[in-house]
Amino acid sequence: MDHRVFITGGAGFIGSNFIRYLRRTTSDIGILNFDKLTYAGNLKNLEGESSPKHYTFVRGDICDKNEVSTQFREFRPDIVINFAAESHVDRSILDASEFLRTNVIGVQVLLDAAMKFGASKFIQISTDEVYGSLGSEGLFSESSPLNPRSPYSASKASADLLTLAYASTYGFPVNITRSTNNYGPYQFPEKLIPLTILHCLQKKKIPVYGDGLNVRDWIFVDDHCSAIEAVIERGRAGEVYNIGAHNEMTNISVVRSIIRSVSALRPELDISDGLISFVEDRPGHDRRYAIDSSKIRRDLGWRPGVSFADGLDRTIRWYIDNPGWVSSLLNQEYRTYYDQNYGPKIRLR
Ligand code: NAD
Ligand code: DAU
Repeated sequence: MDHRVFITGGAGFIGSNFIRYLRRTTSDIGILNFDKLTYAGNLKNLEGESSPKHYTFVRGDICDKNEVSTQFREFRPDIVINFAAESHVDRSILDASEFLRTNVIGVQVLLDAAMKFGASKFIQISTDEVYGSLGSEGLFSESSPLNPRSPYSASKASADLLTLAYASTYGFPVNITRSTNNYGPYQFPEKLIPLTILHCLQKKKIPVYGDGLNVRDWIFVDDHCSAIEAVIERGRAGEVYNIGAHNEMTNISVVRSIIRSVSALRPELDISDGLISFVEDRPGHDRRYAIDSSKIRRDLGWRPGVSFADGLDRTIRWYIDNPGWVSSLLNQEYRTYYDQNYGPKIRLR
């Protein structure tokens, strides 16, 4: 790979794992990491490994047209990968405004800059949530209708439509990737897996929404990264690629597996399923996600490499080994969000 890559959201969970992935797998590459450093952006995610030969971090907002233009004019990327987003469904239910701003307007600003300054590939990192909710049967394919059901997924679906509109209207070479639920190191502890690990380590109640039988399809973050690399190298302009590893699981079974693993690694904690607390459901909670990823496997030769058992074990060990990373995030902003989201759910139950 010999590219100049403009990465947005590179201080977040998946973006920082992707930069780490590139550091391990490529040598001759220039990276500009453009990130606003919201509550979810953290430069600590990128510490501790040598920088690639040409790496620059710029703090900035993808909605700021002037700043984005300045960076594109100077850096002249050939590839743009947009990870930047407001990413948490529960926060979008509390207040959708930042989701619309960053996830929709921000994408328009980036598309315009990428087109104006001659980028030859624009990859919009999207999600399987744009397809909505499945019943007990079937899988989402790239031709499934978009049927988003939360403010977060509606904003992501809007961005997908806008990105595809730039391909049809201007012939701009875009790709969209739609991945299933990611897990792994550096995930902000508002999401189910890191939240559950953290609560096990703190011996705190684990809030499970509704009956715990909603199903998510999990992928280890490095496998998502290798799929994006395949799209950079071999993706056909204008195409959408679903990314998934066939790991469908109910939330309650994921939570129980985490309790079992933490308990085995830290027996002195003396934790059990007694930590589980069923709380009021998430409004509009999508019942089941499951992805058909045969297109990227067939057309780009991509395969996931990490089993759920192995990935979960690596993730749990990482959180156990990095208590400082976690505790630095548990600030006032986190507590305010936590009380706002979980307070009413727990009281209502
Ligand atoms: P995250 O919340 O961990 O990180 C988002 C990053 O974007 C942060 O570093 C934040 O500072 C930055 N950001 C937010 N608003 C910005 C703005 N206006 N300008 C510049 N930077 C801004 O998110 P994540 O989980 O790493 O998700 C990354 C992308 O992948 C998102 O687009 C998300 O929709 C998508 N996705 C996530 C998952 C998942 O399971 N986490 C699955 C599929 C797709
Ligand atoms: O499917 C891809 C999506 O996965 C991404 O687009 C999103 O950015 C990402 O946040 C994730 O969305 P989910 O809503 O599926 O992830 P979350 O970790 O918030 O929740 C996973 C499941 O666990 C979901 O069914 C809700 C449930 N849950 C979540 C939390 C935070 C609980 O039962 N309790 C909780 O406290």
